[in-house]
Amino acid sequence: MKTAKLTVVGAGPGDPDLITIKAIKALASADVVLYDALVNPVLLDYAPNAEKIFVGKRKGCYSYQQEQINDLIVGRALSHGHVVRLKGGDPFIFGRGSEELDYVRAYHIETAMVPGISSALAVPAYQGIPLTKRGSAESFWVITGTTKAHRLSTDIALAAQSNATVAILMGMSKLSEIVSAFAKAGKEKSPVAIIQNGTRNDEKTGFGTIETIEKVVQEKQLSSPAIIVIGNVVEDRSILSETVASIEEKGYHQTPLRYA
Ligand SMILES: C[S@@+](CC[C@H](N)C(=O)[O-])C[C@H]1O[C@@H](n2cnc3c(N)ncnc32)[C@H](O)[C@@H]1O
Repeated sequence: MKTAKLTVVGAGPGDPDLITIKAIKALASADVVLYDALVNPVLLDYAPNAEKIFVGKRKGCYSYQQEQINDLIVGRALSHGHVVRLKGGDPFIFGRGSEELDYVRAYHIETAMVPGISSALAVPAYQGIPLTKRGSAESFWVITGTTKAHRLSTDIALAAQSNATVAILMGMSKLSEIVSAFAKAGKEKSPVAIIQNGTRNDEKTGFGTIETIEKVVQEKQLSSPAIIVIGNVVEDRSILSETVASIEEKGYHQTPLRYA
């Protein structure tokens, strides 16, 4: 008899090398892996003996409700043993990781958690954008653009008044409201970066200011999943040699560093 267990595991932001050794070990001992749309599927190779179930949202695919995922975890843990719930980035950053652990604990099933590298940190970093930098930003906010009630988070207006770097996840559908909130706080000239599919082969970027970013998004046809980074650190970004190499390889036009 196998022991029923759930390990919630962070898969990192997309580049398959950005997974932890602990996550790989958890996958190697998994009997079942339930994975999301933002998980790079090559990571499933670390779980050769496991049943793999896609429970993410993808156009044209059946989409699981959270309650169904919770029941699937409990059912598979009881029938198969070790369930790994593999989630993009870090499971505790807008990942519902703690909700799933709470649900499963009520069934007295053993639980564990392996943190992951969140896209909130890694995606800007791959573009050479430091979330904090002496002289530019003393702190940063990581905010969801869209709340449970599908509204713009009220934290956006608060963040817009601060001098902090603001990293917004799930914000692309609310971009005009975000731009308005920053403009209202007198931040029209604040630098903005938008990074879609960050750390992946199909990464796309757009750079501008609060005044210009909507036009940039239109021109470059940027969409979700993307991170919006607002603040002076965007101007401070260092062009990394790996970034330059990949830009040249893809034939992309490199965006100038300064906009003022
Ligand atoms: C439900 S949240 C999950 C965040 C995840 N738990 C993390 O720590 O990265 C999904 C949002 O994260 C952001 N995101 C995740 N991976 C991304 C990537 N590779 N590039 C850009 N944005 C990403 C997007 O804003 C996306 O809509």
